[in-house]
Amino acid sequence: MDEPNILTERKNSVLIVTLNRPRYMNALNIETLKDGKKILTDIYFDPDIRVVIITGAGDKAFCAGADLKEREKMSEMEVRHYIKTIKDTLVDIENLSKPVRCAINGLALGGGTELAMACDIRIAAPHATMGLTEVTLGIIPAGGGTQRLPRLVGIGKAKELILTGRRVSAQEALRIGLVNQVALEGKLMENAIEMAEDIAKNAPFAVQQAKFAINRGHEIDLSSGLALESKAYEVCIPTKDRVEALKAFKEKRKPEFVGE
Ligand code: COA
Repeated sequence: MDEPNILTERKNSVLIVTLNRPRYMNALNIETLKDGKKILTDIYFDPDIRVVIITGAGDKAFCAGADLKEREKMSEMEVRHYIKTIKDTLVDIENLSKPVRCAINGLALGGGTELAMACDIRIAAPHATMGLTEVTLGIIPAGGGTQRLPRLVGIGKAKELILTGRRVSAQEALRIGLVNQVALEGKLMENAIEMAEDIAKNAPFAVQQAKFAINRGHEIDLSSGLALESKAYEVCIPTKDRVEALKAFKEKRKPEFVGE
């Protein structure tokens, strides 16, 4: 039987999602994207999963972007279909009801860097390299790359990187704000899980609403953003977890959040 394109593994309330095509540098073919979409739907509605980590199998590549061998055989209409599917899948990750960490275990090129940017927080192995290489292939980043990169690193740096197709090291990615953290040598997953657990111990509704307020608020004017923030706070007020936090504070103990 063929290996699955994507593997999932639970570690307490953290779900590790691994792109599993190491023979092809974990490149994204259409089947992998479709499998990913289904997994994302399952995660969205699973109350026991509090944080997701996306990574790639092996230590060479996180993801080499679109599967160029598959692409070569595609008709123009199939290419359009692929681009819509990757764009929609990355939006699903961005809007997932749980925070998504990305553990970049090696090369992340084209759609690989776009996938990383759709996640909430990025950690890279010291040997990782990232880049939006599309213009070197006669196309442009269209899995959200032209939009998310400037929002992360600023418009000037984004233009430099997209128009040259230059790759950056993990250290440069950290310096320009493309990743949040560079892991210690050989400790990528350990470091990724540590931060995931720091998030997972917090109240799930609060984490979800904070993510929602940041995602939806940062592109609108301040007064609309502040109004949206108030609405997101409202969602937390009737939760058991808010009451539990106050009780735990009074009793000088750690709160036990149930996600209700
Ligand atoms: N799609 C499909 N297969 C890919 C791939 C991709 N995006 N990237 C790598 N592979 C495959 C290679 O074809 C090769 O398979 P083969 O042995 O059957 O030929 C295997 O992965 C290993 O790649 P290889 O090129 O031999 O390794 P390398 O270390 O010399 O180079 C890369 C690795 C990733 C730098 C190089 O393969 C590359 O530039 N790939 C394209 C990445 C890219 O530009 N992606 C953006 C797409 S929009």
